[in-house]
Amino acid sequence: MDRSTERTVYLDHAATTAVDPRVVEAMLPYWTQHYGNASSIYGLGRDAQHAMDRARQKVAEILNCAPKEIIFTGCGTESDNLALRGVAFERRNRAKKNHIVTSPIEHHAIGHTVEQLEKYFGFEVTYVPVDQHGLVDPADVERAIRPDTAIISIMFANNEVGTIQPVAQIGEITRAHKIPFHTDAVQAAGAVNLDVKAQNVDLLSLSAHKFYGPKGVGLLYARRGVPFLPVQTGGAHERSRRAGTENVPYIVGLATALELATQDLEESNARIAQIRDRLIAGVLERIPDSRLSGHPTQRLPNNASFLFEYIEGESILLNLDMMGVAASSGSACTSGSLEPSHVLMAMGFPHEIAHGSLRLTLGKENTLEEIEYVLEVLPGIVEKLRQISPLL
Ligand SMILES: Cc1ncc(COP(=O)(O)O)c(C=O)c1O
Repeated sequence: MDRSTERTVYLDHAATTAVDPRVVEAMLPYWTQHYGNASSIYGLGRDAQHAMDRARQKVAEILNCAPKEIIFTGCGTESDNLALRGVAFERRNRAKKNHIVTSPIEHHAIGHTVEQLEKYFGFEVTYVPVDQHGLVDPADVERAIRPDTAIISIMFANNEVGTIQPVAQIGEITRAHKIPFHTDAVQAAGAVNLDVKAQNVDLLSLSAHKFYGPKGVGLLYARRGVPFLPVQTGGAHERSRRAGTENVPYIVGLATALELATQDLEESNARIAQIRDRLIAGVLERIPDSRLSGHPTQRLPNNASFLFEYIEGESILLNLDMMGVAASSGSACTSGSLEPSHVLMAMGFPHEIAHGSLRLTLGKENTLEEIEYVLEVLPGIVEKLRQISPLL
């Protein structure tokens, strides 16, 4: 199939987003004008420090926490690592707690960290199951708790299928048991209420590039009093919880992007969900043997994830790319062999079905016309691939 158009219909906002020009504008002065090191005591340094203070204040207002509870990091992955390792090691050293509770559908930033803590550091892990929609039952979290549980980490919204977890309910349980509760909210930002008090969370990770901010900057909210051992040691940056000279332009960018995402939240989500629903309805109507993956209603407003029987997600992606559509499949490609998505497997789909996954994630710039274009080209792609499928 030839690439018949020069257009790019970008439907991979869960992977990353373009930086909002207003964010770029807010960042610009901090490279060449106010370039001081925020730890320096002279004017240039103080300018940088003040910019960071303002950013921290802005973020804290949105998360409904104290500014000192915000730790700026280098990405969502780092925030997840810091939360898990920071709390797990402290709890073990101080209180001999050696057990971690998590879910089998976490992003690898959590999943692989937990695996390493288990394999090389002697932690025990309980994975609470998810149902066929990728939903965790809070009662299962409670059942998994042991006297030696050090930390519980359940993601806010899944990056593949978009299912949103009952975080506030899980948090009620973890509070009652006095166990630190972390949530990876990297995909949830810009879509849900991030008030950490209303959500009953003790630690929360965010990453700016998922909400029209720059790549390479994230944050960890760590509630005051949560036991915490720094993972990266050095200077006294971020109250000695994350050493390293702060990336002031990126921190300013993160705060600006979060502010914009929060301002627009309801209106923009309603608009995106409306065209997303048109996409879902159109795909299910026009393509036989297709189904929506993830929860039918408790899902991110921009996520449309599908499973197509008898074909490979990767082949759909290549064909969509030729037609100018940027999309993703849930599968992770590891060392030359295509492993089906751990998320879909945990949701109970057999290998052959989990292989046929397609994730389309919308953003604020997508139009109904673009969705209609996808609905024109996708059925033909699926049909063509099925004609050559050895499974049919
Ligand atoms: C749920 C989730 N957690 C963590 C991350 C990692 O964030 P970053 O790319 O900033 O390291 C991602 C990125 O895709 C994600 O979707």
